[in-house]
Amino acid sequence: MGHLNNRRVLLAVCGGIAAYKSAELVRKLQDSGAEVRVIMTRGAQEFITPLTLQALSGNTVHHSLLDEEAERGMGHIELARWADLMLIAPATADCMARLAAGRADDLLTTVALATSAPMLLAPAMNQQMWKDLATQANLATLVERGMHFAGPDSGEQACGDIGPGRMLDPVAIAESAASLFKSGALAGQRVVITAGPTREPLDPVRYISNHSSGKMGYALARAAIDAGASVQLVSGPVALAVPDRVNCHSVGTAQEMLDVCMTLLEDCDIFIGCAAVADYRPLSACEQKIKKSSQEMSLQLTRNPDILASVTSHIAKPFSVGFAAETENLREHALGKLERKGLNMIVANDVSDSSIGFNSENNAALLLWREAEGNGELNVEQCSKDVLAGIIISKIAHLRRA
Ligand code: PMT
Repeated sequence: MGHLNNRRVLLAVCGGIAAYKSAELVRKLQDSGAEVRVIMTRGAQEFITPLTLQALSGNTVHHSLLDEEAERGMGHIELARWADLMLIAPATADCMARLAAGRADDLLTTVALATSAPMLLAPAMNQQMWKDLATQANLATLVERGMHFAGPDSGEQACGDIGPGRMLDPVAIAESAASLFKSGALAGQRVVITAGPTREPLDPVRYISNHSSGKMGYALARAAIDAGASVQLVSGPVALAVPDRVNCHSVGTAQEMLDVCMTLLEDCDIFIGCAAVADYRPLSACEQKIKKSSQEMSLQLTRNPDILASVTSHIAKPFSVGFAAETENLREHALGKLERKGLNMIVANDVSDSSIGFNSENNAALLLWREAEGNGELNVEQCSKDVLAGIIISKIAHLRRA
C-alpha cells in the first residue's frame, strides 16, 4: 500500500497518444490506495474507450458538461468537491492553454476551475510543441497559480521525434501524486477508536453518563484517516457528524461498547480508547419509570467491564493507547493506568480545568509511553483537539515504526 490511502483522485484524460497509458495509471493509483474517478475529453475517447477506464476504476466515466444523467447524480461541482487531487494525464498543449486562459467550455476545464483540490499535470506532447514559447508561457502561468507538474519525460516520441514531451511513466506519476500528501504515516493500518460517553440506564427515561462530547475521539479519527489508516469508530451518543471515510458503530452502554470493540479486534492493529466509559452502572435498570416516593433514595451500582483491559488481555492484542482523565496527580495516576491496563501509551489530560478536556474545543495533554529503553514522555500545551490528535497519531506512528 502506498501513500494515497483514503485519497480521492479525479483523473482527467486528454486526447493524446499517451492516453492509452491512463489505463495503467488508474491501476497504479489504486495500488497506492486511492479511489479513482475519471473524466475524459472528447479527444481522449478517440484514443481509449470510456468503458475501459470505467471497468478499471469501477466508476462511471464522466465526459460531458451537459450530461443530464451526470448532472443529477455527480455533476461538475460534486466532482470538484469530491476530489482530494485532480490529476490531468496526459495533459496536452491544448489543455494547458485552455487552463491558462481560464476557459470553462468542457467538463475538464470547468471542474478545474471549480475545485479547490491540488492539481497535478503530466504533460504529453510533441517535443517542439513543448518547447514552443506559448506552451512555456502557459506552463509558467499554471505553475505560478500553484499547479504541480510531473514530467514530461524525454526520449523517443510516438511521432518519431526525440526530446522532451513524453508522458512520465504511470508509476512515477502515481508517486508524484502521493508526494503531494504529507503523511501516510499509518498507511494500511487498521485503527479502532472509542469516543464519547456511555449511558447507563436507570429506567426507560434516565441514565448515568458524563460530559464527554466525543470531540477528542472524532478528531483522532480524522487524524488517523489523514495519516492513511482505515478507521472504525465506536461512538457513544454524541451530536457530531461522522468524519468522512470513517466507519462508525453507535453504542449506548459500556457493555455495548465492549461487545462491538471485541468484534473489531480481529482486524485491528491499533486501538485507541478515548471514550469516557462509565466505571459503574445501576445494578438493575427498572423496567418502568421510577416514581417519586421517599425523601431519599439510594442507587446500587455495579462495576462495568474495563474495555481497555479486555483489549490488552486479548490474544490478538493490538498496539493499545488509553486516555487518563484526571483532576489531580496527573502523571502518577496516568502512569498507574499505563501499567495496570497493559498499554503501550497513555494520553493524560487534566480535566479539573473546565476550559479544556470535556466538551471543549481545546485540550492539553501529557503523553506517556513505554519504550525498550524505558518510559518516554511529551508534554503538549493547550491547543485545539485537531492539533493534539495530529500529535498523538504522529507519536503512535513513530512508536510503531520503532
Ligand atoms: O469527548 P470530549 O468532550 O472531547 O472529551 C475528551 C475526554 C476528556 C473525554 C478525553 O480526552 C478523555 O480523557 N477520555 C478518557 C476519559 C476516561 O474515562 O478516563 P479514565 O481515566 O476514567 O479511563 C482511563 C482509560 O480507560 C480511558 O482510555 C477509558 O476509555 C478506559 N476505560 C475506562 C473505563 C472502562 N470501564 N473501560 C475503559 O476502557
